Amino acid sequence: MAAIEVADLSKTYTYHHKAPGLRGSLESLVRRRTLEKRAVDGVSFAVERGEVVGFLGPNGAGKTTTLKMLCGLLYPTAGTARVLGHTPHRRELAFLRRIALVMGQKNLLWHDLPALEMLLVHKELYDLPAADFRRNLEELIELLGVGQLLDVQVRKLSLGERMKMELLTALIHRPEVLFLDEPTIGLDLGSQQRVREFLQRLNRELGTTILLTSHYMEDIRHLCPRAVVIDQGRIRFDGAFEGALSTLLAAAGAAGVDEAPDPRTLPEPVVGREAVPEPSGPALAGETAGVVR
Ligand SMILES: Nc1ncnc2c1ncn2[C@@H]1O[C@H](COP(=O)(O)OP(=O)(O)O)[C@@H](O)[C@H]1O
Ligand SMILES: [Mg+2]
Repeated sequence: MAAIEVADLSKTYTYHHKAPGLRGSLESLVRRRTLEKRAVDGVSFAVERGEVVGFLGPNGAGKTTTLKMLCGLLYPTAGTARVLGHTPHRRELAFLRRIALVMGQKNLLWHDLPALEMLLVHKELYDLPAADFRRNLEELIELLGVGQLLDVQVRKLSLGERMKMELLTALIHRPEVLFLDEPTIGLDLGSQQRVREFLQRLNRELGTTILLTSHYMEDIRHLCPRAVVIDQGRIRFDGAFEGALSTLLAAAGAAGVDEAPDPRTLPEPVVGREAVPEPSGPALAGETAGVVR
């Protein structure tokens, strides 16, 4: 059984339009215009246990929405998602114990407390026996190299140190599947690299399955042999990382120049891989050059 199985997954947000100003507010009390946004539009893919997969696409492509559905934070509008055999939106404790979500732009930790306090809260939340808590903590401290930071108030840590503590806290229950949404955003190059090295060891040494979104091509290039590209809610590519780049550049071109990946971070083109193949019938499992849909 694959760790993550997604079939025809869709999410349509409904929201209300309000014209600007007081007049708009008053009008919206009587007459509300309901709008719909199809953020994820019939997405299908699978991730095997122990894989590290990059989930790429321009802003607004539907990446965060997909990750939220896989963690059970959002109900799908249609289609199915299975993670480790569980249906995420049921949010069963048995499921939550086996996954973790880390978002670079949202903090789990409280800034006024040292990370250790939140770790103890998580120990209780996940009902971790003391021996497991100690073992996991020692393991993560070693992997992250952060022992001396545990009792420092979070607000006094650098951004890079804070992200390490976020990862440490999110992983204390030793999840089998880790979802990462822009984990290196805003970090300097050195911190980005240390987070990457940690994720690589986490995957290699503990076998953690990782699905990761990032705007930094270096993250994906170092971590993810495979990339899935999403654009306007649809999967455009699924295959070897090198092949994902041209799909991504095409999507970025359509979305505007500032969405383009930084060319300084692009790898050397691999001969025969730059061109993304035309859609050609059903996707074949195990096709290394990737599948455009
Ligand atoms: N709560 C919401 N209500 C309405 N539209 C939303 C909501 N959240 C996201 N969207 C829209 O859905 C689309 C996908 O968003 P998102 O999944 O956050 O994209 P990404 O993470 O790839 O940047 C975007 O067009 C975004 O504006
Ligand atoms: Mg996002």
